[in-house]
Amino acid sequence: MEPPFRIGEAQVLLGPEGTAPGKGACGMEPPFHIGEAQVLLGAGGHRPGEGHVEWSLHSASAGRMFSSDPRPPPGTAGGEVHAMTDRDCVELLQWAAPRLRLRWEGFRRVRGQVCKRLGRRLKALGLSSAAEYRTRLEADPSEWDVLDSFCRVTISRFYRDHRVFDVLRDDLLPALLEQSRARGEHRFRVWSAGCASGEEPYTVSVLFQMGLQPRFPEAKLDLVATDADEALLERARRGCYPRGALRELPPEWAAAAFPEPGPEPCLAPRFREGLTFLRQDLRTELQDGPFHLVLCRNVAFTYFAPPLQREVLPKLVARLVPDGLLVIGGHESLPEHDTDLERAAGPLPVFRRRRS
Ligand SMILES: C[S@@+](CC[C@H](N)C(=O)[O-])C[C@H]1O[C@@H](n2cnc3c(N)ncnc32)[C@H](O)[C@@H]1O
Repeated sequence: MEPPFRIGEAQVLLGPEGTAPGKGACGMEPPFHIGEAQVLLGAGGHRPGEGHVEWSLHSASAGRMFSSDPRPPPGTAGGEVHAMTDRDCVELLQWAAPRLRLRWEGFRRVRGQVCKRLGRRLKALGLSSAAEYRTRLEADPSEWDVLDSFCRVTISRFYRDHRVFDVLRDDLLPALLEQSRARGEHRFRVWSAGCASGEEPYTVSVLFQMGLQPRFPEAKLDLVATDADEALLERARRGCYPRGALRELPPEWAAAAFPEPGPEPCLAPRFREGLTFLRQDLRTELQDGPFHLVLCRNVAFTYFAPPLQREVLPKLVARLVPDGLLVIGGHESLPEHDTDLERAAGPLPVFRRRRS
């Protein structure tokens, strides 16, 4: 996706240098981290259920943001998203995250999305400060569920961390499929935990059909994709994406998987076969397994509090077949763990369950 991006009433221009000129564009508080930009648009340019454009920008590169229109974004009432300053929002997240078994540091670079939702929530509740919202949380336990839902960062895209998918396609999955073939097993079981709008599980499906099935025609993909957020799962089931979400897919795969023209093509039906989308909160529920491949990227090992990470990791490992693979995010590391896992692809964030 090439800049400039049109986002509702605002426009983001990525530049090699420069800093954001302050408040204004989309009502976001500085600091802005622009360089790798992701624009998340629901049907008609709106995030389902939230009534206006939802977007986030991250990465450490600086860039430039301009509003093409001085009016507030549609659906906001001028200043709505400023009900709380960035500092207030950070303090609130630092206080609240551990109570949700999350860690504030995971949100540091992507807090714009969360803070913006919080600003709208304050407005909806008629509150004028983060302190008032905190009082509300202390008085009303059900508000924690609302806050929890705001803490889901939705950034994803197809073939994200392309080197990981390259090595899965070229080396690691063929080796697993050879083992399965030798045992006469045909089902290849995958779990995508924290699947967002389906970009990750559909990447695996496209990779499987385009990159592996020519060599392993007997293999059948059996993939379960879970997420805590029902709105994202609905988008996943719909399977239609802005072209920018496809930009890292190998072009011939993108052409096969998204044959329709237009700005928001839908995944061809054959790539949806064998996939199931389920709502599940990884903090409390896990799929049964066993799986040949588990992708748990940019969820548990970014946003979960360290004790929860240490709790979840062995459960994930226990759901892998011997030699099964665990993939985490490119900027993540595993909490201290026992020797059940070994690195499977040098420095890439792919781990193999050792045979006992
Ligand atoms: C940043 S996205 C990552 C998407 C994808 N795995 C990737 O790396 O591109 C994080 C996803 O995890 C989901 N999520 C956050 N907390 C979760 C939880 N406790 N259980 C399940 N999913 C969760 C969010 O709803 C969001 O879709």
